[in-house]
Amino acid sequence: MKYVQFGNTGQRVSRMCLGSMMFGHRCDETEAARIVSASLDRGVDNIDTAAGYSQGVTEEILGRIIKGKRDGLFIGTKVTRSTDAEWILKSLDESLRRMQLDHVDLYMIHWPRPHMNVEAMMQALDQTVSAGKTRLVGCSNFPAWLIGHCNAIAERNGWAKLVCNQVNYSAGVRGVEVEILPQARAEGIAITTYQPLMGGILAGRYVPGEPIPHGTRASGEQRMVDRLATMGDRINRFNALARELGLLPGQLAIAWVNHSPGVTSPIVGCSTVAQVRESLAAFDRDLTDEEYSAVNAIFDDQPPSPTEWNDFPRLRASFELLAP
Ligand SMILES: NC(=O)c1ccc[n+]([C@@H]2O[C@H](COP(=O)([O-])OP(=O)(O)OC[C@H]3O[C@@H](n4cnc5c(N)ncnc54)[C@H](OP(=O)(O)O)[C@@H]3O)[C@@H](O)[C@H]2O)c1
Repeated sequence: MKYVQFGNTGQRVSRMCLGSMMFGHRCDETEAARIVSASLDRGVDNIDTAAGYSQGVTEEILGRIIKGKRDGLFIGTKVTRSTDAEWILKSLDESLRRMQLDHVDLYMIHWPRPHMNVEAMMQALDQTVSAGKTRLVGCSNFPAWLIGHCNAIAERNGWAKLVCNQVNYSAGVRGVEVEILPQARAEGIAITTYQPLMGGILAGRYVPGEPIPHGTRASGEQRMVDRLATMGDRINRFNALARELGLLPGQLAIAWVNHSPGVTSPIVGCSTVAQVRESLAAFDRDLTDEEYSAVNAIFDDQPPSPTEWNDFPRLRASFELLAP
């Protein structure tokens, strides 16, 4: 496993961040423990979770699994439902209780909200740092202009700044390449990227034109079905390229994110330990620039999904986020 700087914080983290969203959802606690163990054995020290995953059950499971192993881990969680100051403080207390921790390493705002009170939000985040309940604060799904706005307010008041943005990024979903990744690089903001496999679409298990395999995530997520419908022959071409390069499709998808400029850590999701083992192996493979370009050539004309909610055009243009 390689290690990277987490933006300009001075913190070092493993290149791979383990995503826990399926714990208590599509994998039970025993399998989740195997997933964490396989990841830690390979040097992963960076784990992502959120208060909103399975209504808190994910944090409870994660807390039990990392009990006695917490030292040296970089644990990030998110406040999901609201950006109100009072909720930010309360939600972190609840997350810490569920995970049986006295602090997390990173506390993020999960989503921007309409008419958010940015000043009150930043002050509350600063209070969580001052209270020693988190070491760093960050955000997820924020457009670049909003991070700039938040951090200007923090700077004026001497408050903790947002040090990372967690965003949706994969070979097939590339909205963040406009402004978000360049801003992060310019400002030393860490970028963690979720859904490197597009929830499994790039992991080789869906065949365009054929029924969605029973029991997969897409069988229960209309968003994924909509997304698949926009991908046409690109999936077959992507799978064929992976074969040519001697990789599994999911490994090529992760290696592609790894090769992309501006990315600190891809967040790897999985439902089984066999899946995470395959994904871990992707971190041993650096793509060449030619291989990277060959993937780009497949997806360059990929249209955004009609129902996609985190590919950024809407958030970039949104006046509704600001207080009236
Ligand atoms: N900040 C946010 O708004 C946000 C949003 C989403 C996720 N996240 C974070 O990012 C993490 C990753 O997201 P994600 O799980 O949605 O995306 P992902 O990593 O793109 O997809 C994971 C899914 O791909 C399938 N998969 C994984 N490895 C596979 C393999 N080797 N072979 C075949 N299929 C494989 C599994 O689907 P099956 O379950 O069908 O087997 C698994 O659930 C989450 O755990 C969470 O921590 C953050």
